[in-house]
Amino acid sequence: MNSLVSSVIGQDLDRAARLLRTGRLVAFGTETVYGLGADATNAEAVSRVFTAKNRPQFDPLIVHVPTVDAARSVAADWPKAADQLAKAFWPGPLTLVLPKRPIIVDLVTSGLLSVGIRVPGHSPTLELLGAVELPIAAPSANPFGMVSPTTAMHVQDQLGAKIDYIFDTGPCTVGVESTVVRIEQDRVTLLRPGGVTLEQLRTVVTNIVVGADQDKAEMHSPDSPGQLPQHYSPGVRLRLGRPTNSTPRDGLMVFGKPCDDWQGPIERLSSSGDVVEAAKNLFGAMRRLAAHNVQTIFVDDIPEVGLGVAINDRLRRAVES
Ligand code: TXA
Ligand code: MG
Repeated sequence: MNSLVSSVIGQDLDRAARLLRTGRLVAFGTETVYGLGADATNAEAVSRVFTAKNRPQFDPLIVHVPTVDAARSVAADWPKAADQLAKAFWPGPLTLVLPKRPIIVDLVTSGLLSVGIRVPGHSPTLELLGAVELPIAAPSANPFGMVSPTTAMHVQDQLGAKIDYIFDTGPCTVGVESTVVRIEQDRVTLLRPGGVTLEQLRTVVTNIVVGADQDKAEMHSPDSPGQLPQHYSPGVRLRLGRPTNSTPRDGLMVFGKPCDDWQGPIERLSSSGDVVEAAKNLFGAMRRLAAHNVQTIFVDDIPEVGLGVAINDRLRRAVES
């Protein structure tokens, strides 16, 4: 890392807001992961996001706004399900995909007629969005295909030289990305599992189509662009399950089981087997083990319940990458 060419990290809200208003790139924390933000009404600013991340333009960005009213000003339709879900989970880790208004430039949505919108549950960032008074497009602040950042330093390490400012709002508390649901009139489809669980969604909207499992078939269709099977790569081979034998070059992410005889470096996702704690630790643990120069990272089985669904989704993609 070369400090002469890297961006500045700080907590200067006015500076972050000014840069965003003038079309520059600012990374900021949310409750899920750090985002790389740009003015969603400015095509030149948005194109800088794709360039900095080396992200293909068929993968649409999520637009961040501070209030439900601001969300309604970028959505062309606001069905009852949107109202119910927004009331129940915003501010929070839920993205609603709705018909878009022309104010959001086409590059944000990869030419789709819909836009993903969310109100993040993180007060410094809500303040920033309120001060900017513009919808902010922000994908996770990592190079395309890599693990998402959960601290400002993670952003600095991977993208520091390519962006204008990193608004440091502390470590992310949820640790996996938002849940993405598409709303078409009364039909609600889960496109990506995330920080709000399916069980939680179903307490508000009973009839939810689970679309995430179809993504392999649909990944090049306009339905779920960007849900590529290869993603979240720590840059090291990752394998699901714990083998009986290990070497000093095998890393392990522990979930709920003792590990006295493991030879290599260990990261505890959760000693007590808590999926919420494991989600929070997941991406940081992957990064730290990769930095140990291990050959393979093994990860204990995580139950497919609650946030475990989002964790397993990310792990399966990391194995493929
Ligand atoms: O928690 C999060 O959602 C984080 C923080 C920064 O907000 N953002 C994030 O963005 O994870 P990103 O770009 O890494 O993932 C966004 C995903 C896309 O890959 C795409 O599948 C889906 O959201 N998406 C966005 N707009 C969409 C649209 N109009 N239709 C369908 N899917 C969409
Ligand atoms: Mg991402």
